[in-house]
Amino acid sequence: MSAPRGQFSSNLGFLMAAAGSAVGLGNIWGFPTNVAANGGAAFVIFYLVMAFLLAYPVLMAELTLGRHARRNMVQALRGIATGPVSKGVGTIAGFSGIVVASLILSFYAIVAGWMVAHLADPFAQLFGAGHTAEWLTGDSVSRNFTFTAIFSGLTMLIIASGVEKGIERWSTLLMPTLIILLLLLIVYVLTQPGAIKGLEAYLIPDFSKLSPQLLLSAMGQAFFSLSLGVGTMLIYGSYLSKQESLPRLGALVTLIDVGIAFTAGLLILPAMYVAQEAGTQIYSASGDLIAGPGLILQVLPALFDTMGTSGLFVAMAFFALMVIASLTSSISMLEVPVAFSIENLGLQRRPATLLMGLVIFAISSVIIFNFESLFGLVVSISTEYGQPLLGVVLCIFAGWIFRKDQLLSELKEGHPHIERTLFWKIWPWYVRIVCPLLILAAFVQTII
Ligand code: PHE
Repeated sequence: MSAPRGQFSSNLGFLMAAAGSAVGLGNIWGFPTNVAANGGAAFVIFYLVMAFLLAYPVLMAELTLGRHARRNMVQALRGIATGPVSKGVGTIAGFSGIVVASLILSFYAIVAGWMVAHLADPFAQLFGAGHTAEWLTGDSVSRNFTFTAIFSGLTMLIIASGVEKGIERWSTLLMPTLIILLLLLIVYVLTQPGAIKGLEAYLIPDFSKLSPQLLLSAMGQAFFSLSLGVGTMLIYGSYLSKQESLPRLGALVTLIDVGIAFTAGLLILPAMYVAQEAGTQIYSASGDLIAGPGLILQVLPALFDTMGTSGLFVAMAFFALMVIASLTSSISMLEVPVAFSIENLGLQRRPATLLMGLVIFAISSVIIFNFESLFGLVVSISTEYGQPLLGVVLCIFAGWIFRKDQLLSELKEGHPHIERTLFWKIWPWYVRIVCPLLILAAFVQTII
């Protein structure tokens, strides 16, 4: 039934694809926004702790299960199940992963659509198309629908080309571009008046803002940012050759993800204070720094407007950065249902991509037409509940259901002396006991 499986052609190809999945709006928008809302560097410190102590171990669970099974999440969990109960739980969790990945993509494509529209805006202005420019940056249903469709189409085009020619090729091209754009923008912003105040707000911790809520936001942010819980990293792991060391690649992906989030903070927070210096309001009525959509869609464009013609080019660079970051993530989300349709429903890749892409676009459309009531709800169900809970199930499968000798032999592939490493001494019991308990504890706290 199954078509021949794709595989990443190299270590670097996997690294770019997995880092591309991880690095997205979560890093360049979500992370700086959370920092702005939660006491600057105090949040940064918590985030680093969460990323390495909680997210990295879960990432390892996904990569290991995926490479072992060489199948999507449903098949992978069913495959290692030892009895009817674990098989049932595995099936439900696998399907839930597909549903949650699709829900995340359905709202992500809307936000990414805004980024595409804002990227088109400076071009419209350059060509003197004032009305079009207004439409592009105004918040209308027609604008949102059009640009979500464009972004979803791009995502589908890449996924239809397969693992090596689509995901790997585009990630390898786009990720270095993203890093160059990010660095250029930082250099530019840091030379503007007001930037240093922003650096201070970013890097000097305000520990008075510490709260359990902060811990929870840091955990949510780390899970979202590393694309965990929904089978994305699992399926990317399933395309990885047995010659690569999983702990090393997983650590590199985590480092790149955290590194780019941190670097994006060096751009966004200083840019806010530069905007303030130029006369833009950066505090909301309640006295907090503006976070959420207002930050990216109002504060920064207002800043670009004050820069005259050069502002148009800065705006292009900034929104190109956002579109690239979104695209390398959205393809990894779409791959989850597509891989399932290929492996379990026997579809070819192209029809599978078209089918799943259209279903998800239909969900996006429902959200667009009922934005007020649905957008926040879908974000919260998928990222605050779906991702952490599925993360717990993945830890349980990697830590309790997967036999330890199987785990060892999978990790030994590409890392023959794994038994002698600190990783092997700590990770197996850590993912078995500490991770699920920590995630559940944080989770219970949200509900209370
Ligand atoms: N990690 C992506 C980001 O930071 C989001 C994502 C979540 C991607 C889940 C895939 C799966 O934007």
